[in-house]
Amino acid sequence: MCGIVGYIGQKDGTEIILEGLEKLEYRGYDSAGLAVIDKNRLRYSKHEGKLSNLKESIREEPISGTLGIGHTRWATHGVPSNENSHPHMNGEENIAVVHNGIIENYLILKKELIDRGYTFKSDTDTEIVVHLIDFYYEGDLLGAVTKAVDRLKGAYSLGIISRLHPDELIAVRYESPLILGIGHGELFVASDIPAILNRTRKVVYLENNDVAKLSRDSYLIYNGNRLVEREIKEIEWDIEAASKDGYDHFMLKEIHQQPQAIKDTLLRRIDNNGSIFLENINITAEELKKINRVYIVACGTAYHAGLLGKYMLEQFVRVVVIADIASEFRYNDNFIDEGTLVIIVSQSGETADTLAALREAKSKGARILSITNVVGSSVARESQDIFYTWAGPEIAVASTKAYTTQLVAFYILSLYFGRLKGNLEENLYHEIVNELKELPDKVKKTIYSVDLIAMEIAEKIKDKSSLFYIGRGLDYYTSLEAALKLKEISYIHAEAFGGGELKHGSIALIEEDTPVIAIATQQNLYDKTVSNIKSVKSRGAYVIGITRERNTDLGTICDKVVYLDESFNIFMPLLSVILPQLIAYYTALIKGNDVDKPRNLAKSVTVE
Ligand code: F6R
Repeated sequence: MCGIVGYIGQKDGTEIILEGLEKLEYRGYDSAGLAVIDKNRLRYSKHEGKLSNLKESIREEPISGTLGIGHTRWATHGVPSNENSHPHMNGEENIAVVHNGIIENYLILKKELIDRGYTFKSDTDTEIVVHLIDFYYEGDLLGAVTKAVDRLKGAYSLGIISRLHPDELIAVRYESPLILGIGHGELFVASDIPAILNRTRKVVYLENNDVAKLSRDSYLIYNGNRLVEREIKEIEWDIEAASKDGYDHFMLKEIHQQPQAIKDTLLRRIDNNGSIFLENINITAEELKKINRVYIVACGTAYHAGLLGKYMLEQFVRVVVIADIASEFRYNDNFIDEGTLVIIVSQSGETADTLAALREAKSKGARILSITNVVGSSVARESQDIFYTWAGPEIAVASTKAYTTQLVAFYILSLYFGRLKGNLEENLYHEIVNELKELPDKVKKTIYSVDLIAMEIAEKIKDKSSLFYIGRGLDYYTSLEAALKLKEISYIHAEAFGGGELKHGSIALIEEDTPVIAIATQQNLYDKTVSNIKSVKSRGAYVIGITRERNTDLGTICDKVVYLDESFNIFMPLLSVILPQLIAYYTALIKGNDVDKPRNLAKSVTVE
């Protein structure tokens, strides 16, 4: 949940580390700090609050050095404060450590260290790491780090420097992402690629238990005391892709990127004849026949995409599909055997609960297929089959383009497996694929046509304490995602109800002027949704309808109606989610909230 940047080279590390931390702020942003080695002195600065506080302090009291580590934090152990900010130093302040992850056995280790005479300045789990290194230190920093990490349980990526070793930067990875960047006469360490992309395109993904020792022009990677080689990968995407491109917020930019992201996800897979090619999916027709049950496992928005995936797979592949949230799935006694396919959905590919669910399922013999946006992420590396969404980096905490491309992933996979299993008739298949290709343009048109309406609705709801989304079938799944978007950035209480469930309790919440947004795009359930709308309307609700062009009668029932282009029922969720995304965006904007970095949330949830 935190971000790490490290530098060793000839230039001023402070500037490079601050630049990198800025690109990693999406990983956490409640405090930041850095430490550098300056003429055999260890100097550091660390501050509660956003990165700008750290920058300000360094402007007032400059520190510099050609070796350094930095950190942006999202608190887990200990509140955000200067003391709890990283780096953490040993008592003599000659070793500094930054950490991303959680040390599960830190209380036992802390007691052991206190008994040995160590004193602690922070409430963090990280501080035990630096004292452990200090304890094992006998002149060899790498040796001390290796002994210290042997004692740790949990998840951690670490950056370590010492003033006693001014030509050495140590990086450790276990269950938390960490990469090395390879430059000319300089090396970098980072939690994610945007942090170093301005400086180099050559990266090495560290693997679990890797301990890397970096000097100015070379590096060695050890794993379990063995020297190992790791492939150097060339990063093709541009740093521009990780900047705002003139939009006020990443979220707005990412909403507008959806047509392109969907197109990229589609076009790399479907050729002009409508055939689907999936380079990282190796399931054969024979293997598919043996799959008797599918679990779709994910968190938050990715789970909402999974609900639609369940519907699609059941429809086209005729297989039993169970969708579950990862934090529950990992502790359930699930029916998993060699005949089970588990589909893991994760934008980041690093979500702790999702990763744990993946491992749990794998250990029981399930085949793992992942849908992820990050190449080389932990989820991708641990799966047998991978579908990359190619949405490009998603920086805003509120997921938008990752969600719509996850839906596209499920469309493609269901069509592909449907054909492979022989359940999907050729003409129907081509009809669906042809319509699928139309969707980037329809999504684009929708973004522009609903923008102004979204602003008006945001004005109307901004002071409300509650809002409800209702829908049926696939519209219910969209409602779940719509409600999550609104609550996470506008802080308005929003809930989604299956329209038919209202009468079983929730309708008691409706009073005069309660805003209800009804999604009514599923034509087979349209009449049902209309009667649900009438029931909330008659209790005083202010109802906004989202429907297809043909349902003009909704205008006489709702207070406001937004019409969408026509498409197949299965594709309407791609169009109907756009207005809720924009309503959430504009409501948060009007309320003066930090749209891209909502309170209490971080982009990548790498701890349980
Ligand atoms: C909400 C949101 C989260 C994520 C969830 C899973 O807008 O972004 O609900 O969808 O934390 O994250 P990933 O997909 O990275 O596993």
